[in-house]
Amino acid sequence: MNKTVLGVLASGRGSNLQSIIAAIENGRIKARIGVVITDKPDAGALVRAREAGIPAVCIDRRQCTGREDFEEKLVEALKEAGVTLVVLAGFMRILSPYFVREFKDHIMNIHPSLLPAFSGAHAHRDVLAYGVKVSGCTIHFVDEGMDSGPIILQDTVPVLPGDQEETLAARVLEKEHQLYPRAIELYVNGCLQVDGRHVTIKE
Ligand code: GRF
Repeated sequence: MNKTVLGVLASGRGSNLQSIIAAIENGRIKARIGVVITDKPDAGALVRAREAGIPAVCIDRRQCTGREDFEEKLVEALKEAGVTLVVLAGFMRILSPYFVREFKDHIMNIHPSLLPAFSGAHAHRDVLAYGVKVSGCTIHFVDEGMDSGPIILQDTVPVLPGDQEETLAARVLEKEHQLYPRAIELYVNGCLQVDGRHVTIKE
């Protein structure tokens, strides 16, 4: 059987990338990362990838003529690396239907709230403003909408009195680092069956 090749897209510090690297290194995820791509030259994810000996490139959005050009370059780099599953790990850009079609059903994303609640770029701020008592994180397949694809896994954390964005984010992040490797492991082992909005886990 051919090994799954992951292509990880990130914009920032890359702690989720690190949790995926760790799960590959300890043998839990039987896949390799073919390439890490960032859209920002100073993304910590680039450093983490290089330290782990993983090919890493920055495709700087500001150097591209537009979104189409940017996404074509992304697709080219992912295909060149033989990527079969695209993993969005803190990638702060919305991908167009063109990109989604290129890797249809083979793109995962992590979002730091219990979707469909609090989608968008400011989940923790919105959670605190609304006053909910429970938050969490969601791993989902990516479709053509924003944070709207079929849900693979979710986990919860309490929202505590006095929470600030930073304290809530840190509590959720601990769960993210467990949940993303688990979702990828399930995918790699062929345990995820998608039927419309519903993802069934067959172990
Ligand atoms: C995570 O909270 C993720 O859920 C969100 O962006 C953050 C990325 O963190 N989409 P990191 O770069 O993986 O540390």
